[in-house]
Amino acid sequence: MKARIVTLPGDGVGPEVTAAAVAVLEAVAGHYGHDFAFAEHPIGGCAIDATGEPLPAATLEACQRADAVLLGAVGGPKWSDPNAPVRPEQGLLALRAGLGVYANLRPLAVHPALAALSPLKTEKLRGVDVLFVRELTGGAYFGAKTRGADAATDECKYTVAEIERVARRAFELARGRRRHVTSVDKANVLETSRLWRSTIARVAADYPDVGLEHQLVDSMAMLLLTQPSRYDVVVTENLFGDILTDEAAALAGSLGLLPSASLGEGSHGLYEPIHGSAPDIAGQGVANPVGAILSAALLLRHSLGLEAEAQAVEAAVAQVLEHGPRSRDLGGNAGTAAVLDAVRIALEDHAATSHAFFS
Ligand code: NAD
Ligand code: IPM
Ligand code: MN
Repeated sequence: MKARIVTLPGDGVGPEVTAAAVAVLEAVAGHYGHDFAFAEHPIGGCAIDATGEPLPAATLEACQRADAVLLGAVGGPKWSDPNAPVRPEQGLLALRAGLGVYANLRPLAVHPALAALSPLKTEKLRGVDVLFVRELTGGAYFGAKTRGADAATDECKYTVAEIERVARRAFELARGRRRHVTSVDKANVLETSRLWRSTIARVAADYPDVGLEHQLVDSMAMLLLTQPSRYDVVVTENLFGDILTDEAAALAGSLGLLPSASLGEGSHGLYEPIHGSAPDIAGQGVANPVGAILSAALLLRHSLGLEAEAQAVEAAVAQVLEHGPRSRDLGGNAGTAAVLDAVRIALEDHAATSHAFFS
């Protein structure tokens, strides 16, 4: 198949991990006979430096025209002055809004070979397989903001329609899994959370085959550590989802491992690792590319409908996590390039034995 993929490497380790993910997609194209055309555009701090804007209009237009978008990370100390008039992260938020990608899927799986890297006891990690569905285009991230000399505000607003569409997505996804949804809110304090809870409960009535439980976000932060294998699909609002998924990454062994897919209506999607620009290791060639590579697998699955290819990439990554080489965050000493090479070799083996290669 032919596909146009826009790449937005961004800042810090973004370009390093995005290059690895593109190399894997190119390998997939070669092995399975696809034609992927890549076009790179600026976003974030590097876009501010080049154009004054974190999301140049040409970047957004290219993303809107593409079949899928692969992003690295934005931000870094150079642009982090709290009084700066413009910030890299604004570019990412504008992109998510501009693409209408309201559902951010963040799968958490714990590879058995990495269990020792988690701060949790190994027996707690057995069977952990959670799909976080984070609402991505509403809440405090997008409400009105004010800043005065003595006070500042961030309005947190949700509409019923915004909650309903992400809820439906979560229930649909649960049907392809273990049929259980945990909705996380702060309904004991926040009005938006009370609307969230009642809307989720109403949507749940359309999915009688899927179980629903509500959980308050503070206790959920604790339960994720004490009973992580209890959860299947976890749906929550934007800010809670941001925080809980970084916490979840610690269960997997490193923030560098987790991918994400941001979806709206249709197959158009934005794919990015959940980690940031990692300024402490940027430019050293040591970033773990796995989160970005697994994001490319999600791109194959959700935007291009290439399930066999997505599974081949995931199997290749699993093989490398098991046998190495491992990057520094996983206790190894391999650089980004060595991990990428190992994934490419594993992928080649996989493709050579799969039917698609010969057909
Ligand atoms: P971070 O995710 O960049 O880094 C947190 C820690 O995890 C660091 O020690 C880092 O070295 C490590 N880490 C992250 N990715 C890694 C990888 N692939 N391999 C190995 N180690 C990895 O979070 P931060 O330091 O709080 O934020 C830095 C900047 O990134 C900020 O400007 C923030 O706004 C931005 N950020 C961007 C995104 C995004 O673009 N989607 C996401 C999160 C943070
Ligand atoms: C993420 C990041 C972003 C978020 C920032 C950089 C805007 O932390 O993708 O998780 O908070 O959504
Ligand atoms: Mn985050």
